[in-house]
Amino acid sequence: MKCWFITGVSRGFGLALAKAALANGDKVIGTVRSEAPDLQSPEGRLRVLKVDMNDDEGVSAAVHQAFEAFGRIDVLVNNAGYGVLGPLESSTDEDLHKLFQVNVFAPIRIIRTALPYLRKQKGGHIINITSIAGRAPGVGAGLYAATKFALEGITATLAREVEPFGIKVTAVAPGQFRTDFLDTEPRQVDTQDAAYASTVGAALDALYRLNHLQQGDPALAAQAILKAVAAEPPPLHLLLGADAVERARARMRAVEQEMICWEPVSASTGFKDA
Ligand SMILES: NC(=O)c1ccc[n+]([C@@H]2O[C@H](COP(=O)([O-])OP(=O)(O)OC[C@H]3O[C@@H](n4cnc5c(N)ncnc54)[C@H](OP(=O)(O)O)[C@@H]3O)[C@@H](O)[C@H]2O)c1
Repeated sequence: MKCWFITGVSRGFGLALAKAALANGDKVIGTVRSEAPDLQSPEGRLRVLKVDMNDDEGVSAAVHQAFEAFGRIDVLVNNAGYGVLGPLESSTDEDLHKLFQVNVFAPIRIIRTALPYLRKQKGGHIINITSIAGRAPGVGAGLYAATKFALEGITATLAREVEPFGIKVTAVAPGQFRTDFLDTEPRQVDTQDAAYASTVGAALDALYRLNHLQQGDPALAAQAILKAVAAEPPPLHLLLGADAVERARARMRAVEQEMICWEPVSASTGFKDA
């Protein structure tokens, strides 16, 4: 039986993952910031903690409480997050700071607080829910992509730092999934700007037309994450959704082609005697 700590179990991926872990016979400590989630609590295998990712002290306290409650945490999932979409030009410092607080600073704080416990228990698995936007961002997703690139980068370096302690780290990058992710209207910056109508406006219109019709099923995403957790070794990076694989592949090809095209220039910058 595994013990999970999952942020943001009120809905979406977090709720689906908590349900899947409980159905698997595991224990779950989930965080919410307001109402109790729609979750059953079989045999006391579920604890819910109230914490807003904007509350630094509350975030640290929740991690301590989680380890105290279950004695150990086997899988720690940084899931809570949101998007700010719109042209970069109309974003504000406040948008940027708030988004980084929830999507990057809180997950780092959670990891930092958990690591001494994980090292002591000689193992554990940290899962960071990033996004395909953290690999192959679309127009209008600049700030959001910045947070998810940050989390992808942290995952890759952290995995190597904690590997000697038996701790695994995985970045899970979903494509488009049918959650409430796009329902958060007030979190968009001005998408009506005429100057960006044909680029950002068109891209976001297409995205919003798909809201709640997205191909990705969060329940199946949860099963995929369970599979990754059970794997030996687990993946360092896991894409979720055929759309995510397609976008990542196209981006990798473009990066590779450009790198080859510019390699003579790239390689021309060293001292001759080095
Ligand atoms: N759905 C997609 O297509 C998609 C694609 C790529 C990546 N993702 C990522 O998946 C993760 C989960 O999103 P979702 O798709 O499940 O969206 P969702 O249905 O909107 O759920 C978001 C979750 O994050 C929580 N949250 C947001 N801001 C928070 C804060 N300040 N403090 C505490 N909790 C907060 C929400 O809690 P409340 O209920 O209290 O708001 C909710 O539990 C996010 O990191 C998102 O970036 C989603």
